[in-house]
Amino acid sequence: MTVVEIPMPDDWHVHLRDDEMLAAVVDYSARWFRQALVMPNLVPPVTTLEQARSYRDRILSSVSIEAPWFDPRMTLYLRPDLVADDLRHGWVERVIGGAKFYPAGATTNSDLGGTSLADFMPVLEVMAELGMPLLVHAESTDPDIDIFDREAVFLEREVAPLLARMPELSVTVEHISTSAGIDLVRAYPQAFGSITPHHLSCDRSDILANGMRPELYCKPVINSAEHRRALVEAATSGDDKFFLGTDSAPHPLSAKEARVAKAGIFNAPFALEVTAEVFFQNGSLDQLAAFTSTNGAARYGHPVSERRLVLTRHGDANPPRDDLLTTATGDQVRLFGVNEAALWAIDQVA
Ligand code: DOR
Ligand code: ZN
Repeated sequence: MTVVEIPMPDDWHVHLRDDEMLAAVVDYSARWFRQALVMPNLVPPVTTLEQARSYRDRILSSVSIEAPWFDPRMTLYLRPDLVADDLRHGWVERVIGGAKFYPAGATTNSDLGGTSLADFMPVLEVMAELGMPLLVHAESTDPDIDIFDREAVFLEREVAPLLARMPELSVTVEHISTSAGIDLVRAYPQAFGSITPHHLSCDRSDILANGMRPELYCKPVINSAEHRRALVEAATSGDDKFFLGTDSAPHPLSAKEARVAKAGIFNAPFALEVTAEVFFQNGSLDQLAAFTSTNGAARYGHPVSERRLVLTRHGDANPPRDDLLTTATGDQVRLFGVNEAALWAIDQVA
């Protein structure tokens, strides 16, 4: 039996959706996470402070468990016409934790995103002045670029020039999926990176080698084993530039297993178990707390939680769990990480 204790973690990138889906999934985030940096890609997207406040209220009123620690931090969908005062007031009130850039068409509900970061300079200058982080979905939408190279190309064409041009703007490269992302974050003092449990634990053969598994399809797409190793090295190294962002992104089975499948992996329920298992397999459990609980808190300006969780890895796996969740409207959602969940138990230290 192996036991590891960590301060209560934060999830620095999560999709909580809205309405019945929100109600079905939010408790899984509230259960073990303190801060949640909530993505704005609703339909329509969250682009004003008023929308962000109202979304935050809906999130908190959808939590049905006792979770007084749960503190969702909102993000605004980066548009050239974002109102500077919304950024300023949202930042000072600590409602808004960052603004999110989506390349138009790169992923779910990104249609209203942009083509180039250079088109957003006035807003980015306000953010730099405030110290507000820019959160970037780094994926080229150039159809000539191979899907597995799109992160590297976007970083080279868009993110590196911006970092060089605006050293005072702090940037999180979200859900890093390749060594190109790791290298870029290490190369610029003001760059940071979140990494997901699925990019740490899977490679593209898992999606395609033994039958096609739509539940492993996400954006940026899970890449090669070599890239996965680079992510594991960075996450387990203790380097304070890297931290957990689950990118938990639930979709109904009807959309995930459709002829044209939606990107997104619902990993919030067992994100910690999957992450702990990666660290265990790598012999790095002593670095788990840095990745899940302290590096991200420091990056986003929060003290480390005083609450603590204890994660226990049992010798024998618990019985496998059902991997489907049903929402109030009867939609089913597939859960990621049931095998790891069978190996680990989590408790809050009293
Ligand atoms: O796989 C993904 N799903 N990647 C994203 O960037 C968005 C997300 C979603 O909202 O479903
Ligand atoms: Zn996301």
